[in-house]
Amino acid sequence: EIRPVSDKFSRPLQDLRISIMDKCNFRCSYCMPAEIFGEDYVFMREEELLSFDEIERLVSQFTKLGVKKIRITGGEPLLRKNVDLLVKRLSALEGIEDVGLTTNGVYLVKQAEALKRAGLMRVNISLDALDTDIFQEMNGRKVKPNVVLKGMEAAISAGLLVKVNMVVKKGVNDEEVVKLATYCKDRGITLRFIEFMDVGQTNGWDFSQVVTKKELLEKVSTIAPVEAVDKDYFGEVASRYRYIGTTTEVGFISSVSDTFCGSCTRARISADGKLFTCLFAEEGYDFRQLIRSGASDLEIEKKIENIWSNRTDRYSEERTEETVKTRKKIEMSYIGG
Ligand code: GTP
Ligand code: 5AD
Ligand code: SF4
Ligand code: SF4
Repeated sequence: EIRPVSDKFSRPLQDLRISIMDKCNFRCSYCMPAEIFGEDYVFMREEELLSFDEIERLVSQFTKLGVKKIRITGGEPLLRKNVDLLVKRLSALEGIEDVGLTTNGVYLVKQAEALKRAGLMRVNISLDALDTDIFQEMNGRKVKPNVVLKGMEAAISAGLLVKVNMVVKKGVNDEEVVKLATYCKDRGITLRFIEFMDVGQTNGWDFSQVVTKKELLEKVSTIAPVEAVDKDYFGEVASRYRYIGTTTEVGFISSVSDTFCGSCTRARISADGKLFTCLFAEEGYDFRQLIRSGASDLEIEKKIENIWSNRTDRYSEERTEETVKTRKKIEMSYIGG
């Protein structure tokens, strides 16, 4: 049976984000800037990644402590072979109610059908611009928006629920906000605007590059009036709005201007099996080592319980000019969004 565990601020452990691949075919400036993630950047070796057996075993211990929701991320998760097989195994686990995947969308044309058949319910696709030049500049690999749009169509045709994520950087793609919102609204697709965050050490973040939820909401309201929608569940990241008179939603993930640490129910596992209790954590606990040293299921479960029950993370609420510079933060491609 399930023994729910809560942390020092009474936040239950409910979602698990699992990075299954640290590599990516994009070099988004806010995540894996090409100057740093270049030719000689050393990514994880195959044997360093948790195997699907290890992931499944680890996730089953998490379900015993209350995890119901799984999100597969990266890097780009679809660069890993046979992700559908992993989806199938995770969605079959007792207690798991929701399995989603966050991707840049490029490989969905090939994989959407198989993923859906395996039990995947939802995909969140990153798309920061419809304008070719701006998008090519932002993804760092000259990929055209059409490639992502094709992936998105494939996902929708396969019956997956699709949301689009747009990270907004001031002076870079803020002109695209209204364009992308209109595009998604016309097609009934949920778009979420994400405030540019200071994850990792390499993306050169500062406050002046953030376009806040308030500013974004004003821009969106020029297209059509919107009304706030109640949260679906405790710990929902996006604040959601609906275009009045429609069922189409638009969301805002305001981790800078309006933080949500108070209801943060998320744990993260890096592709090499470390557990992080915050996106901005400085270090993680090495579950790969624990598993590979022959630990029992109960030992693994107890370790998770122990870590979560001592958790005090609330980085976004503590963020200051100082923490932005001095904290030794893990890269997003490593920890998995
Ligand atoms: P849904 O279940 O569809 O709502 O997924 P999600 O929004 O939780 O996941 P997704 O991978 O689409 O992430 C969207 C954005 O939210 C990314 O920029 C994440 O980094 C950010 N995000 C998700 N969880 C957290 C969190 O706990 N803290 C912070 N600061 N940002 C988060
Ligand atoms: N700030 C905000 N969002 C980010 N993402 C990646 N890096 C950042 C950042 N520095 C987003 C991606 C993807 C999601 C998982 O996280 O665009 O949609
Ligand atoms: Fe790759 Fe996503 Fe990071 Fe862009 S944001 S570099 S697509 S992992
Ligand atoms: Fe959770 Fe850390 Fe994000 Fe706050 S900053 S919502 S504690 S992951």
